[in-house]
Amino acid sequence: MAKAKTQFICQNCGTVHSRWAGKCDGCGEWNTIVEEDPMGGIGSGPGKAPKKGRPVTLTSLSGEIEEAPRIPTGMSELDRATGGGFVRGSAVLIGGDPGIGKSTLLMQAAAALSRKGHRVIYVSGEEAVAQVRLRAQRLDAAQTDVLLAAETNVEDILATISEGKRPDLVIIDSIQTLWSDTAESAPGTVTQVRTGVQAMIRFAKQTGATMVLVGHVTKDGQIAGPRVVEHMVDAVLYFEGDRGHHYRILRTVKNRFGPTDEIGVFEMSDKGLREVANPSELFLGERNEKAPGAAVFAGMEGTRPVLVEVQALVAPTTLGTPRRAVVGWDSSRLAMILAVLEAHCGVRLGQHDVYLNVAGGYRISEPAADMAIASALVSSLAGLALPADCVYFGEVSLSGAVRPVAHTAQRLKEAEKLGFSSAVLPTASSELPKGGAGKWKEVESLPDLVARIAG
Ligand code: TYD
Ligand code: MG
Repeated sequence: MAKAKTQFICQNCGTVHSRWAGKCDGCGEWNTIVEEDPMGGIGSGPGKAPKKGRPVTLTSLSGEIEEAPRIPTGMSELDRATGGGFVRGSAVLIGGDPGIGKSTLLMQAAAALSRKGHRVIYVSGEEAVAQVRLRAQRLDAAQTDVLLAAETNVEDILATISEGKRPDLVIIDSIQTLWSDTAESAPGTVTQVRTGVQAMIRFAKQTGATMVLVGHVTKDGQIAGPRVVEHMVDAVLYFEGDRGHHYRILRTVKNRFGPTDEIGVFEMSDKGLREVANPSELFLGERNEKAPGAAVFAGMEGTRPVLVEVQALVAPTTLGTPRRAVVGWDSSRLAMILAVLEAHCGVRLGQHDVYLNVAGGYRISEPAADMAIASALVSSLAGLALPADCVYFGEVSLSGAVRPVAHTAQRLKEAEKLGFSSAVLPTASSELPKGGAGKWKEVESLPDLVARIAG
């Protein structure tokens, strides 16, 4: 028999290569390609007679349609991110950097569900049962009926969770420790991770249990990252945050049963994760209102407004090519704002280093932040602090015009709630609340904004 052909698979994105290479064409990462046996486990058993399915028409299903049955955890920030609770029979991937708090979050969720009478099994492949229990104790979860198991072999896990009454929720911590007898590659490779995850998803679909899979985001490419199984699961959530800060954000990037633009906000404390119901208060907590270069952006995350401070430092450069450093925002978007300031507003920044930071380790993805960023930049360059009671939002176009953005009323309501009395926003913003004479400062273009700040 001919020797089975091996493939070279990128551990970061799963791209298959015919030869080994230093750099993956798929994702551009270096040293992530590993030789694997792609057929490991597939087609090795005896052939099975095909079973005939019965297709149905869509119309014949009308009347039977219900909302996906969910199990809410009662942790409102987690439920918000999942779209109202875990869906029965679905598989959810929770990715994040090692040490960010994934195990902590899931142990708290397990305890909350267990207290509500659900059967929860926590399978840890990374820590021994005693270690998991110790953590549970710290989280006030030790007095619950959460079932613990320390297994890494897929077949053993399936045997364990199939035993006894059907579980409502199974947590697998983590997918990178899963290994199956049927796949020949080393544990942690793409083939092993995919085979293991596939088996867990099948269990979820067959039994109606919710499967929560933990995946570490990996940097070195030696073990497969969560991205290689994103397409297989029903929902993908990433747990993000800066190790230097206490905030953690649970961000939904894929959800077959709900919205994908919601976030859940938590704060890491010595007793585990605490839910943050009003993120704005947190992100504005350490404001220095008199410093030039700081502007408050009235942003939106899904259905919820979030106020956050953006900080800019513009300083004369000593280098041939000035530095541009960004934390928490898109660097190409900053380059665009700088270009518009130069081209349309006469603001010369070619001899200046520019540093931009979003407070609290938060990351902004909305173009509506353009105005706040431009204001912070101009304020820093001019050395003039912006009014402390003002928020900024609006999108800037390449022509220098300022465009209206969605959810004006909600942004302004949140700002008012937190004590801000004025706002700089685009002209022609719809849904502007009535009676705010003089409070809402409408600007038409970026030159308008610069004149308002500097003049
Ligand atoms: P963990 O949940 O183990 O991270 P992950 O599973 O994503 O790798 O969290 C580890 C970090 O959280 C660790 O640095 C300690 C911290 N932590 C707290 O600050 N308070 C706590 O109550 C717990 C359990 C952990
Ligand atoms: Mg962990």
